[in-house]
Amino acid sequence: MRSKGAAATLIGLATIGASFSGIHAQQMLLLAQETAVSESLTVWDGVFTQKQADRGKELYTTHCSECHLGTLMGSDMTPPLVGGDFLSNWTGSTLGDLFERIRKTMPINKPGSVPRDAIPDILAYVLSVNKFPVGETELTHDAQLLRKIRIEATKPDQSNKTNRRDKSE
Ligand code: HEC
Repeated sequence: MRSKGAAATLIGLATIGASFSGIHAQQMLLLAQETAVSESLTVWDGVFTQKQADRGKELYTTHCSECHLGTLMGSDMTPPLVGGDFLSNWTGSTLGDLFERIRKTMPINKPGSVPRDAIPDILAYVLSVNKFPVGETELTHDAQLLRKIRIEATKPDQSNKTNRRDKSE
């Protein structure tokens, strides 16, 4: 009978479909995990190099230290770019946000006068003075990628990812 055959085929397809979707679901899960990892990149992950921070220091001296001072501590009307107050202003934001803030508004007396490509180097220097760890790759000039790096005042707790309970009682 045709209809019976069709039903069997349907069941068969459904079974194949189910096992395929099982594999699919697993791949999706892996993908989701990978995305979660890349989205949880923070300034603690070694996102700039020492060399870049050194370049940034010179640029900072040229464009920024007049007001924010060589110590980055600022003065009177100029806020610091280092320390607790600065970090609590920016924690939870991204390097993309900080990049845009600098690009659009700094130096306050001459916004836009710093070449766009110089800003990641200045950011690297600011991060290094704030004692964030250096890494192997330079901070990108790609604003889209900068938006994926979160500023966190304190190191995110990695315990649920890496710590295994191997204490024996
Ligand atoms: C002529 C003085 C002057 C110069 C030069 C200057 N700034 Fe500023 N900056 C200020 C003042 C004043 C403020 C506070 C007012 C404001 O937020 O717009 C400020 C605020 C900031 C903030 C916000 C701080 C916070 O906690 O939110 C950042 C970041 C910053 N400056 C970075 C820079 C960088 C990087 C440079 C160099 C490219 C620079 N500034 C050059 C005067 C200056």
